[in-house]
Amino acid sequence: MEIVIVPDAAAGGELIATAIAELLTGKPDALVGVATGSTPLPIYQALAAKVRAGALDVSRARICQLDEYVGLPKGHPESYRSVVLREVLEPLGISESAFLGPDGSASDIAAAATAYDHSLAEAGGVDLQLLGIGTDGHIGFNEPCSSLASRTRIKTLTEQTRVDNARFFDSLDEVPHHVITQGIGTILEARHLVLLATGEAKAEAVAQAVEGPLSAFVPASALQLHPHATVVVDEAAATRLK
Ligand code: F6R
Repeated sequence: MEIVIVPDAAAGGELIATAIAELLTGKPDALVGVATGSTPLPIYQALAAKVRAGALDVSRARICQLDEYVGLPKGHPESYRSVVLREVLEPLGISESAFLGPDGSASDIAAAATAYDHSLAEAGGVDLQLLGIGTDGHIGFNEPCSSLASRTRIKTLTEQTRVDNARFFDSLDEVPHHVITQGIGTILEARHLVLLATGEAKAEAVAQAVEGPLSAFVPASALQLHPHATVVVDEAAATRLK
């Protein structure tokens, strides 16, 4: 695992955007897995700046989603599909037809999750998967004690994660209890994993993931199993590293 400490979130965003740009230069139709939440926004802003400057061609790029809330109506502004359209596809000028995501409003959620796993495989697998990390060590929404071999499936959010995500909703009551998330086994199939963590609130989770034992109690520690994992942390998120 490669650990890169950067001065701040903007520097992390720029570094990772450059890695994605290099990937797309060598493989213009690469499948890039995106995460939602606050942490990856500087990456998407840096990518959009490269596109605007004519330094990056994303015309053949494909994008896929890491996870999705269950039960939000289609088009809800905080559904992760809406967030990815708003924060990634629209600023980059990528068509929705180049976007894969699980259907969190399906009547059969288990079938929708399995179908999403199959669609990723049929698309040739994820070339680079962006990840954030939860304060409880989750990746995707694989909460502590998730199987390290898990596939895309429905998961129940912990109360801590619902509280962490309540800032995107009018009240905690509106935060869904369930999600479809790529499993840890699914995430580990991506050819390159890139986790960005910023801010002191992530410092303990980062230290446990990177320097602690491999453990289902800390789902992000599964990155230790991957042959090509890069963890980018700002100075605040690096404060608990030895
Ligand atoms: C989001 C996701 C989550 C977040 C994590 C951190 O698609 O999969 O694992 O990456 O909850 O969220 P932020 O970046 O908002 O702190």
